[in-house]
Amino acid sequence: MKFFIDTANLDQIKEAQQLGVLDGVTTNPSLMAKEGITGHDNIIKHYIDICEIVDGDVSAEVVATDFDGIVREGEALAELHEQIVVKVPMIKDGVKALKYFSDKGIRTNCTLVFSPGQALLAAKAGATYVSPFLGRLDDISTDGLNLISEMRLIYDNYGFATQILAASIRHTMHVIDCAKIGADVMTGPLSAIEGLLKHPLTDIGLEKFLADYRKGNP
Ligand code: E4P
Repeated sequence: MKFFIDTANLDQIKEAQQLGVLDGVTTNPSLMAKEGITGHDNIIKHYIDICEIVDGDVSAEVVATDFDGIVREGEALAELHEQIVVKVPMIKDGVKALKYFSDKGIRTNCTLVFSPGQALLAAKAGATYVSPFLGRLDDISTDGLNLISEMRLIYDNYGFATQILAASIRHTMHVIDCAKIGADVMTGPLSAIEGLLKHPLTDIGLEKFLADYRKGNP
């Protein structure tokens, strides 16, 4: 299972990278705005900064919603750095663009996926990654994990190479549940990744080991 961090915060990206388990980064316009990164040139520079911190894939989202605009923007983003994956919304022109990019060998991440039908369409169009938004489905009392199970079944039925990128992860249990279901990738906040470290018995056990060691080595 690949671990992506879902943020545009460079300090958090560095911290996850230093942990040694980071496979990539996802961003979106809201995450950029949260870090105060606004304006085309600043956003472009920020993508390059992120690529220089991590070794893996970095999703960069287009903001155009028409085919020509998505293609123009996506091609420019892909030119920026070999690690860039073009993030395209699940809309009609987005699906057309996914197919266009796939034919040109440009890697894509289809974002804002909320149904198995959308996920099937994105895979048919050749998306590299498809991002079901788990947390946002849970937010509206719909079982987000169920969508990921349905996607796993559909992709395995037909041997789609498209990777399931479980997005909108909110906490460690989402990560574990996605791993059980077989999501190829999860993208979440640093807290969800670091949360996997924690167990009170680990802390109690370590404290006891160190206390016992100190008895023999005052
Ligand atoms: C994924 O690529 C999205 O940027 C992200 O996971 C959305 O998460 P949110 O629902 O917490 O905003």
